[in-house]
Amino acid sequence: MTILPVPRTAIIVVAAGSGTRLGARAPKAFVGIDARSILRHALDGVFAAAPAQVIVVAPEGWEGDAESELREAAGERADLGRVVVGGATRQQSVAAGLAALWGDVETVLVHDAARALTPPTQIDAVAASVTADVGVIPALPVVDTLKKVGDGVVVAAVDRSELAAAQTPQGFPRTLLESAYVAARDGGTEYTDDAALFAAAGHPVRYIGGSERAFKITTPADLERARHLLGARAAASGIPRVGIGTDVHAFGGEGNLWLAGLEWEGEQPLSGHSDGDAVAHAMVDALLGAAGLGDIGEHFGTSHPEYAGAHADVFLARTRELLAGAGFDIGNVSVQFQGNRPRFSPRRAEAEGVLSAVLGAPVTVTATTTDGLGFPGRGEGIAVTAIASVIPTGPREG
Ligand code: CTP
Ligand code: MG
Repeated sequence: MTILPVPRTAIIVVAAGSGTRLGARAPKAFVGIDARSILRHALDGVFAAAPAQVIVVAPEGWEGDAESELREAAGERADLGRVVVGGATRQQSVAAGLAALWGDVETVLVHDAARALTPPTQIDAVAASVTADVGVIPALPVVDTLKKVGDGVVVAAVDRSELAAAQTPQGFPRTLLESAYVAARDGGTEYTDDAALFAAAGHPVRYIGGSERAFKITTPADLERARHLLGARAAASGIPRVGIGTDVHAFGGEGNLWLAGLEWEGEQPLSGHSDGDAVAHAMVDALLGAAGLGDIGEHFGTSHPEYAGAHADVFLARTRELLAGAGFDIGNVSVQFQGNRPRFSPRRAEAEGVLSAVLGAPVTVTATTTDGLGFPGRGEGIAVTAIASVIPTGPREG
């Protein structure tokens, strides 16, 4: 058995509220959005983020149900999760979660189960932004025009450019958050969120961009919105999407050429951050583009020194992982390069075999010359175009 390192981050998922405003028969966290409850969706997001200790704060009497949701969402990470019972207020529920932190934890994220569709990237971004003395919240600009009101009249206009709507998870350095909670309890003050409690103890809080999907399910209309969002995703599953990628590299440097996943003995290499394999790079962009996952620079650029000198298999295997994580199967990829060299047809089958094996999907590669025109025609470099199709598989199972 492999012993995994103990995570330095914990996520407390508060789910102990009754959901008065939602008005369902069960506590809010156990109300179904689709086949899955609000809590289960929230935990799916939490476990898709970087590994962390996960503490679910459940309403009294619902610990067993929370355990089952936790086990199913956690999969292989079940050892990282536990359930504790919450209190009468959100603040007491968070305090119950804090009491269950492992000794090694340095950063604590507090997350509302009611923000069930929060993207895992938002969880990771908050965790990454917390420092030893600064808390971090995700927030969205306010879009409505706001008024200060009282007794049926508008008292004043409010400048919305100075306002932001706070979301969760909110992240804090552990020891400062713990002492801020002790101070709040001793002072007998209830705060509306953890950031307010942390700030009241004199600590700075920064904000990063939140996301529309991280809205809180509070009223029946919010639940409808969540159902609609998931329904739209399910309806989109099965309809293929396509993406395009291009790449150009100049010939230059020492050693052998790497192209289309193969080493070409005696051919001049292409220059580039990695091995210069423009065929592989265009394929990566086509695949990421089809899935809406950004581009090659974002995932493999010079800020990722681990990919310096890497070959096609490394790039493509990681791309396949990124797509699978986002719920996409690869349909096929078709690539064409323009260049005088290398003479490609004798090794076409070999290249297609290598590239298809890494992606687990058919890859076809064609080559053409440009009648002596342009930089490929003058033998200065190679230009590549790739098209990929991907198939959304809908909400991930398990
Ligand atoms: N929460 C909690 N313990 C409480 C109150 C709230 O763990 N005593 C949690 C809720 O489960 C929710 C989050 O805090 O995930 C945000 O609270 P809210 O949306 O207000 O949920 P409820 O309090 O359940 O709803 P309502 O206020 O409508 O009763
Ligand atoms: Mg409440």
